[in-house]
Order: sequence, then structure tokens, then C-alpha cells
Amino acid sequence: MLEISEDGRTWVLSGPASSYAVHVTDRDELLNLHWGPRIGLADAEALAVRPLPEYWPFESPLDGREEYPVEGGPRFVRPALSVRTAERRGTEWLFEGHDAEDGELRLRFRDGGLAVTLHYRMPSSTDVVERWVTLDNRGPAVELLRADSATWTLPDRDAWRLSQLHGRWGAESRLTRSGLTHGEKVIGSRRGHTSHQHLPWVALDTDATEERGEVYGCALGWSGSWRIAVAQLPDARVQITGGAGWDDSGLLTLGAGESYTTPVFAGLWSDGGFGGASRAWHAYQRAHVIPDANRDRPVLFNSWEATEFDISEVQQRALAERAAAMGVELFVVDDGWFGARTSDRAGLGDWSPNPDRFPGGLKPLADHVHGLGMQFGIWVEPEMVNPDSDLYRAHPDWVQYQPGRKRTEFRNQLVLNLAREDVREYLWEQLDGLLSRAPVDYVKWDFNRCFTDAGWPDDPYPQRLWVDHVHGLYALLDRLRAAHPGVAFESCSGGGGRIDLGVLSRTDQVWTSDNTDPLDRLAIQHGFSQIHPARVMAAWVTDSPNAMLNQRASSLRFRFVSAMAGVLGVGGDLTRWTREELAEAREWVGLYKGIRPVVQRGDQYRLRPPRGGLSAVQYVLGDETVVLAWLQAQRYGEPVPALRLRALDPTASYECLETGEVHRGAVLLHHGLRVGLRGDLDAAVVRLKRK
Ligand code: DGJ
Repeated sequence: MLEISEDGRTWVLSGPASSYAVHVTDRDELLNLHWGPRIGLADAEALAVRPLPEYWPFESPLDGREEYPVEGGPRFVRPALSVRTAERRGTEWLFEGHDAEDGELRLRFRDGGLAVTLHYRMPSSTDVVERWVTLDNRGPAVELLRADSATWTLPDRDAWRLSQLHGRWGAESRLTRSGLTHGEKVIGSRRGHTSHQHLPWVALDTDATEERGEVYGCALGWSGSWRIAVAQLPDARVQITGGAGWDDSGLLTLGAGESYTTPVFAGLWSDGGFGGASRAWHAYQRAHVIPDANRDRPVLFNSWEATEFDISEVQQRALAERAAAMGVELFVVDDGWFGARTSDRAGLGDWSPNPDRFPGGLKPLADHVHGLGMQFGIWVEPEMVNPDSDLYRAHPDWVQYQPGRKRTEFRNQLVLNLAREDVREYLWEQLDGLLSRAPVDYVKWDFNRCFTDAGWPDDPYPQRLWVDHVHGLYALLDRLRAAHPGVAFESCSGGGGRIDLGVLSRTDQVWTSDNTDPLDRLAIQHGFSQIHPARVMAAWVTDSPNAMLNQRASSLRFRFVSAMAGVLGVGGDLTRWTREELAEAREWVGLYKGIRPVVQRGDQYRLRPPRGGLSAVQYVLGDETVVLAWLQAQRYGEPVPALRLRALDPTASYECLETGEVHRGAVLLHHGLRVGLRGDLDAAVVRLKRK
């Protein structure tokens, strides 16, 4: 809902529980009035006439209050917008008016030939505010040194705490929380992709718990380099500004008639604690971001850990037969099926099946997989090339490089310049051809190195490559999805290196981490769940001991229950699993299919975080509740605590589908559910149905 004051200078956007209010002063300063619990227009108007504090001339009353601080004038905060022309630098805008259409509010400003429009939208039934900015140049060339998507203003409070998700390869999305101090905390990526190191999300609270208290969150929808800066200003006010690009040295130049639209930076206020904020983010993504989120994702098998590069059609058929017998629904051939790709040293870029490995192309294997009742998927890494490839030999200038400098190889590969139309066209032809020649249902789209030599010798403004590469990626994905609507896409970047709201709006799931150790995964998944729903979080059961990471041995039970917290997959070498293991796995896959709608579409409650002892997650959908519980280590023979469940009706009874036992809702809520775990690395699934 949008309310607008009579003078057209105050606006209030409201969702089911929250409101967001802004005001343009008579000096054309755009101020944030409110972000928090629901208010009405009269409240916003009362806030609008409250005078700004008076400061000595060493501070600016605008700082910490403006919606989109520009460079120039009485401001000392980090600017969200920094531009320069041949004549001058900075912005001094005039307010031109607003438009409101289809729930979207647009506030229009102008500085000479540059039109700056701030966009606001609260998608239906959510408390998420989507913000972005359009810059339209109708004058002489303007260089955009920095153009953030939004700046968010928090209310005055005594002490703020910052939550963030940090990591590295094999250890993504780990949650940390720390008190803010004066100055800035800056997170981001200067790697060309979203990165394993930080997810583009922050949350701020003062005293929230998992289920209580105010939490402000912001998440950026951008899959290239990015930056979010959280600033605690001298008067302790806090603002968060963020957008595409790591530094302030230039995104793009806009010639006359050109425009640039920033990615969306979404913000959410919740008073339901960290859990309530996460559920609100999940509901928003399922309803407004993820394509077809009401369609549950199938159980997949992926061949990577089983075979790595040593693959053949015969061996993939053998894996497929075992996977099908286990109840798997989607069989994915990972790396190594194309060109001369028998190791990571060659073949990337040459997207035709390796004739020694797949003499008849991929179709015979795809048909076999379909004949077994499964969907068929393939791995690709379109944005990359090995120097030892036909593509690179033919087009050495298609990669990102700086003339006269070394071309840095990571994993023996270079990054293609997707800002180039000819590169995009080549990739389109290759991928469209692949999807047309074999009945492919699923594409795992990988990205296995960062940008290092982001240059473009023929372009007068090579910096634009950072932004245009991402736009090129999005355009390719959009075009492929439109031409092959039945094909699902997974975003992967050496595990979780490209997970953000931008890529999630055009992919069906993400590869969470290359770390498939089921214990490490609990922490990674705990962090992931702060912002993204289980519906997109792919998780595989692999071999024990875990060969990829740490040699940790764990039971099939523990591995399955860990992976069942998201989109279940299997990634072990099934040709080496015993008959008993295959039979047990079949049981787990069957159980997962039974709980899948609740896990993938339900509301998620983190009952206990993974901190060494018992941890658990509860999912609730309608009358059904699923609890997944894991015990890392039982200490001193102490009994494992009961799990107090959430979101049940205290007056109702719930039947446990495993044991037939009937529990009273009030008892489960107040005294808890006993899950009977013991020893080390034990796990349980409990299904409850309201009677
Ligand atoms: C990195 C991915 O995360 C893995 O799952 C696998 O696909 C390899 N790349 C293949 O090179």
C-alpha cells in the first residue's frame, strides 16, 4: 500500500507489518522518515515537520538521514552517487516529481542533463522494500564513479549489532555477529562474482533473539563485484549503502541518451527475531524472486565426486542405473563430458561431447537416463576457457586481458569477456545447440575462478566490463530460459561463489558449497538459511570418509539427514556402495520425498544452532511439521535436551508418523520433543501431523 501526502512530498509504503516513509524537504533534500512498524500518513507527516538537530559546522544534519546521499554539498558520509562530467564532479539535484504505478513509487530528480530516479516497491504480502535507481543521461557524457542501489537508514538506538555471512571456498555462508563501532564496516567482492567470501546480506539488531526482537536486513541482487558499507556515524546513527562494483573508480560512462539501472537492493524490517526475519526473506524469495518456486525440486544424482574427470558413457550408465534404483529423479553428468576435457588443463570452451567418451553424443545417455525414469542434466562453465582449447586458439582476444600484461591462469583457465556481443553470441549458439540436440532437463552452470585481468583492449572505457559481464550473463540465462522453458538451471561457482537475489531470479537452485562433509554443512546451511530458503539449497550425500575435504567418517543416516535440510542430492560413487547401503539410501530418498513439500515450501524454524551438541531445524507447512535433528557429540553421558517446537497449535494433538505416538501441542511447545539421539554424529527425522 502506498500513501502520498497532499503536497506530493511525503510517501508511506506499507506491507502487512511494516512501513517505510520518505519526504522531500522544500530544499529538495530527500530524507528517510521511518522504517519499522506500520504507521500511517499522519504519523509520517508529523515526523516530516520535526526539525533536524542543529550541529556545529563540523557535522551535517543531513548525514545519516538522507535516502540517497550524493557526492557534493553539505555531506560527509560515503556517497551513494558519485558522478563527473568534463566540467564538474558531484550532484546537486532538483526534485521534479513522483510517479506511482502498479505499486511502484518513482521519485524523480534532475541535475542538468542527468535524471536520477529512485524506485521503491513493496511486493504484495511482503515487508520487503525493493529499491533501485535509474540514471538517464540527456546531456554531455557523464562518468558514473559510483552508483549504489540504495542507502538504508536505521532509527536512533544505543548500540547496533551486525550479522554477516562470511567464508571462503569450502566454507561459505558462516554466520558471525558483532557490535558495531564508530566508522565503517565494508564487505563485498572485488572478484567479478558474488564470491565465497561474503554473501551480499547484512542484518542489524540491538537485542534480538532467534524468535524475538527487531531485525533490519538488506540483501543485494547482483552477481558481480559489489560493496555494502555499514557506517556508524559520529552521532551513532547507522546507515547501510550498497550496490554494484567494489570501489569508486568508475562503473560506466553514460553518453547522451544512455541510461543505467542499478541492481535491486532489498530491505526488510521484522520484529520476529532472526528467525522471523529469515522466514520473511524466504517467503519473499519463494513468492517474488525464484522462478516456479511452488514446484518442488527433484532428488538429483551428480557424478562429480564419484568420477571427477575420469568419465565415460558406460560408467555414467552404471551410475545412472544405481541412482534410478535408489529413487533419484534427476541424473546430472558433471565436468569432463566435452572437448578434450580429461583434466582441468584442457577443453573448456569447446562445448561438444568428447567423441571418445560419448561417441554418439549425449543423446544416447540422455535417452537411457530418461528410460530409467529420471530427468537428465549436464554441467557447463560457459564463461571460461582453457588456453588449451579450440576456442582459445581461434579467439585469443575473447578473454579478459590487459594488453602487454600476463594473462593470469587460475585452475588453468581464463575468463571470457561476456561484455562482447560476439562472445555472448558464440555462447548462445553453443548452449542453445546443446539443449536442442539432446533432451536436457537441467543445467548446472559453474564459474570456477575470479576476475584478475579485467581489461578490454578495444574499449575506450574498459571498466564497464565488470558490469557488462554480469549483464551479459543475465541476458544469456534469460534467453536460454525463454527458449528452453522446460530446462532448470543451477547456479554454481566452485560451490557457493554465486548466490544472490540477482542470480536466484533466473535459476532454480544453487550449489551451496563444494564441502559435502555433513557436519561442516550444518554450519554452512545454518548461515545460508539466514537469508535463502531450503527450496534452493542443494545438498548431496557423498562417500564416507569424506574424500574431498577432511576424511571424516559418518553414517549414511547422518549424511542423509544433513542433506535433507535442503534440496536432496546424492553424489557418492554408487558403484562402490554395498547392497545394504544402496537399500538404506533408497529408504532415505523415499522418506525425503514424503517430507519434501514441507522442507522446500514450509516455514523454517531454527530450533538450535549447530554449536557442537544438539542442533535442529523445524519446517511447518499446513498441518504437517518435520523436525531434522543432529547430535554432533554427546558429552559426559548427559541426556540430549528436548526440542521445544514452534508454530504449533497448543490446543491440538500431533501424531508422530514414525512411532504413532500422539503428542499434545502445548507439551511440544513448552516442554519439547524428545528425539532420543546418542553418541557422536547421530541424526533423526521426526514427522508430525496435526490430528
Ligand atoms: C566446481 C563445482 O562446485 C563442483 O561441484 C564441480 O562441478 C567442479 N567444479 C567441476 O569442475
